[in-house]
Amino acid sequence: MRILSGIQPSGRPHLGNYFGALRQYITLQKGNEPFYFIASYHALTAVQEPALLREYTMGVALDLLALGLDPKQAALFAQQDVPEVTELTWILSCVTPMGLLERAVSYKDKVAQGLTPNHGLFAYPVLQAADILIYLSELVPVGQDQKQHLEMTRDIAGKFNQQFGEVFVIPKPYILESTAVVPGVDGRKMSKSYGNEIGIFEEGNALKKRVMSIVTDSAPVEAPKDPHQSTPFLLLSLLASAEEKAEWESRYEAGGMGYGEVKKRLLQLVEEYFAPFRQRRHELEKDTDYVMDVLKDGGMRARAVAQQVMHRVREATGLPTSY
Ligand code: ADP
Ligand code: TRP
Repeated sequence: MRILSGIQPSGRPHLGNYFGALRQYITLQKGNEPFYFIASYHALTAVQEPALLREYTMGVALDLLALGLDPKQAALFAQQDVPEVTELTWILSCVTPMGLLERAVSYKDKVAQGLTPNHGLFAYPVLQAADILIYLSELVPVGQDQKQHLEMTRDIAGKFNQQFGEVFVIPKPYILESTAVVPGVDGRKMSKSYGNEIGIFEEGNALKKRVMSIVTDSAPVEAPKDPHQSTPFLLLSLLASAEEKAEWESRYEAGGMGYGEVKKRLLQLVEEYFAPFRQRRHELEKDTDYVMDVLKDGGMRARAVAQQVMHRVREATGLPTSY
């Protein structure tokens, strides 16, 4: 099956990215045809410092390789290495109703957070649709916040196919219910843009500070507590064994347990779980030429597919490039 997903180079990845999406990138790579890319054109809607965008792009490649992405199985590439995707964005724009984009929740959220409402930000879902459709992708692993973008992609593909013939595959999102929305230290959805994230490559004191800053209610130690409303427990559940999770559940409900205890254990679990990935990342950082080669090779593989599909798109729309 053709799998595709993208992540923006707009900062360092966090527990929400990992459990909501990146872990699924890795588990789905075996036995499938995965395409994973760094969504640099999307990031440009917000990151407009060239040096920073470069640094983040390399950073995401390192992150994904350190997490276990196998470049022999998956094509790992940067979005700009397949420029055909911007051509398809224009063509799809012409079958995308304004009303569809006007209903986009993520656009409204980003403007509410203070991002400049540029046209790129508004047209973002059309570029995302092009990313997915240009590789005839069937399954797209993402977190819950991307569900609407996937629905828009399906709508846009349907409109194109109806108007010009069946060129595109209608893709499906792959969202794991148990990790669809990972909470951040303030209890809202974990997100770089809320500044409430726990980074998976964070270490030492910085990591400790983040975990200890998780906001909890002011229930006294002796009071029984509801684990399912408690951010430290929800995060711990992502990492602990089923037995350990059940133990903490009973300890919450029995009372006599302070939040400091559960945070300490959470810190230990985060440290243990991500230690091998951190180690691998440190090693990869010494060999950026290797990472560049991976991106180059992935870009060529992805572009070959995109060019074939674009040929069909141009024929279908009456825009052949040779006569
Ligand atoms: P951010 O909101 O931090 O900028 P991105 O937009 O880069 O994150 O998201 C990359 C991937 O991680 C997407 O598939 C997204 O759905 C997923 N993701 C982001 N935050 C979370 C979260 N808190 N819980 C689950 N999945 C998430
Ligand atoms: N919008 C996605 C995010 O913020 C990133 C993205 C861009 C993407 N293109 C995509 C995800 C295509 C999946 C498929 O996380």
